[in-house]
Amino acid sequence: MKHRAMLTGLILTLAPGVSAPGQPGCVPTAADDEGPFYKAGAPLREATGKGLVVSGVVKSAATCQPITGARIEWWQANPRGEYDDAHRGSQVTGENGAYRFDTDFPPPYYGRPSHIHFKAEAKGYRQLTTQLYPTGGQSAVAFDLVLVKE
Ligand SMILES: [Fe+2]
Repeated sequence: MKHRAMLTGLILTLAPGVSAPGQPGCVPTAADDEGPFYKAGAPLREATGKGLVVSGVVKSAATCQPITGARIEWWQANPRGEYDDAHRGSQVTGENGAYRFDTDFPPPYYGRPSHIHFKAEAKGYRQLTTQLYPTGGQSAVAFDLVLVKE
């Protein structure tokens, strides 16, 4: 039983998003493939469709605090499963580090599950490229982007 208690403690310590006791940091967001459809320079916008609200906070892994002035970009397939310019967007975070946009629910395509690609960058932090995987039926999804210092 003693070993089991120790093991449980270890698992709790390593659970995603949970920091070890006494440490203020947040677990960095895992990187994921950029894929072949990234185009730089997505326009600033608040929507690339409707039906799914995606929101979150860009944070520092070291402190868990929001990052002001971070730039996020997203790109995804349209409802026909094709990448187009109407489904590329970017935002810059304010003091609360938050972003929020409305978009079309991305369909699965080429055997891949529904996903939205993201990049996030901020001065003094390593650029992050990752993906969000919304699940069917969701109308809102929260996705914090936790960046690591350079
Ligand atoms: Fe993709």
